[in-house]
Amino acid sequence: MVRAGRVTVDGVTACAADEKVGAQACIRVDGETLPSGAPVYLMLHKPQGVVSATEDGREQTVLALLPDRYRRMGLFPVGRLDKDTEGLLLLTNDGALAHRLLAPRRHVDKTYFVRVEGTLDAADQAAFASGLSLRDGLVCMPAELEILQPPETALVTLREGKYHQIKRMMAARGKPVRYLKRLRMGPLTLDEHLSPGAWRELTEGEKNALFGEL
Ligand code: URA
Repeated sequence: MVRAGRVTVDGVTACAADEKVGAQACIRVDGETLPSGAPVYLMLHKPQGVVSATEDGREQTVLALLPDRYRRMGLFPVGRLDKDTEGLLLLTNDGALAHRLLAPRRHVDKTYFVRVEGTLDAADQAAFASGLSLRDGLVCMPAELEILQPPETALVTLREGKYHQIKRMMAARGKPVRYLKRLRMGPLTLDEHLSPGAWRELTEGEKNALFGEL
């Protein structure tokens, strides 16, 4: 296929079958991109208005924010953020890592910046710390609420990730969420240089920290 000129590497026709290419190189045969063998780990600043899915008939997905060469690598988001939540989202095609990170018993810390309607106070802090019981019967694990200034803003750290969890916890306190952004997940911190919609590959240090966590 190489001799027949059917193979390109990063858009350039390959001329030798023993050519060494990087793990991230985009290899195409007859214009079709081959899935890369190496696992890929991306940090995305998920913007609001985009769903944390790989496919969706109606909504724009986080995968649509990535260049073409990443879309065929089988990447998927590790966990979900609501459509109107922004912030740190890890995308990978390393199923084993995702599985371990998401295992309910793993309790990977996730920290969010939140703005609510109303004023957060010590009673909210105590309720979060002791494990809130929600109206639907869910008993939350103890969570940390660090109230910021102004006091309708806070950092919330969860050790679990149930559906709409922070929104439901704040609703239970009568203080609906108006804005939510994930800042940290385990050892990863959202890169402040990434604007909403921007992404980058994890550094070696970040990858090592992630694997070290497991
Ligand atoms: N809690 C929520 O309510 N929504 C998110 O997207 C993440 C945590």
